[in-house]
Amino acid sequence: MSSSPPAVSLPALRFDNVTKTYRGGQVRALGGVSFEIAQGEFFGLLGPNGAGKTTLISILAGLAKATSGSVSVHGHDVVGDYAAARRALGVVPQELVFDPFFSVRETLRIQSGYFGVRNNEAWIDELLENLGLADKANANMRQLSGGMKRRVLVAQALVHRPPVIVLDEPTAGVDVELRQTLWQFVARLNKEGHTVLLTTHYLEEAEALCGRIAMLKQGRIVALDRTSALLAGTASTMLRFKLDQALPAGLAERARVTGRIVQVKAHDAAEVEQILAALRAAGCQIEDLEIGRADLEDVFLEIMQSEPAAAEARS
Ligand SMILES: Nc1ncnc2c1ncn2[C@@H]1O[C@H](COP(=O)(O)OP(=O)(O)OP(=O)(O)O)[C@@H](O)[C@H]1O
Ligand SMILES: [Mg+2]
Repeated sequence: MSSSPPAVSLPALRFDNVTKTYRGGQVRALGGVSFEIAQGEFFGLLGPNGAGKTTLISILAGLAKATSGSVSVHGHDVVGDYAAARRALGVVPQELVFDPFFSVRETLRIQSGYFGVRNNEAWIDELLENLGLADKANANMRQLSGGMKRRVLVAQALVHRPPVIVLDEPTAGVDVELRQTLWQFVARLNKEGHTVLLTTHYLEEAEALCGRIAMLKQGRIVALDRTSALLAGTASTMLRFKLDQALPAGLAERARVTGRIVQVKAHDAAEVEQILAALRAAGCQIEDLEIGRADLEDVFLEIMQSEPAAAEARS
């Protein structure tokens, strides 16, 4: 891909024509995914529910096997060279899985032991501190709230200081304060050289954090570029207003409606005028009109709506 940053020796992650089918081929979760992430990148993997993000991460983490294709971490094949690949990875899974009988600190010590890391207390303390878990160090996992369990999952993933950090929706169900703490910490690790692969449905987080973004739809990559290029390559103006009645035909199909709030994209000033004229002609009483820049959510919706589905693309 021409937009890739210059390769720093080996790519951090390499996906080569990865396919995955379930139930004897009835469900095709991934239909041939290829891309590379350079060392030090902060990379976003976006896509609607069921697009295949977690499947791709499970294959990367060795939790699922690709039907065909290959994946490597710092040049280590995730199947042929599993131990080295896994050691280079810290994975925060989407599902909360933990052993309820251990305390937070014990959980982190056990995970350190699993990776053969000794004398890890100073780093464990730093993780607890940075993830707002210091006062929960001795609490049993089952006593923690959902958001706190997710913090422990993040700490667990980072306990062996992996060069590549993979976060599968780390902020689902997490309060605003922790989201900010978490992103500050992950951004610091990225600045220090760690590669980050992130999936999230909070597109404003992806827009703020990721240098490059890939969008998956039905198991295929339908967009992959620098975040700035994705934002620049679309209708750059958004009209937002409130409306208590139905939109006129012609606008209804292209608008995004959330309750009373309507958003319509326009490519230029002439189109803004056309939209306003159509609303006037239909006698629509609009309130709180704002004209702003399109954001990543607009780009995402545009790409998801315009790209043909995988099955159609193949026929
Ligand atoms: N173990 C499984 N058996 C059968 N089908 C599965 C299995 N795991 C995933 N799938 C299917 O594979 C597809 C991709 O699922 P995946 O969990 O990778 O999506 P996702 O992009 O992570 O979605 P979300 O945003 O909801 O987390 C879906 O159609 C899903 O139903
Ligand atoms: Mg998922």
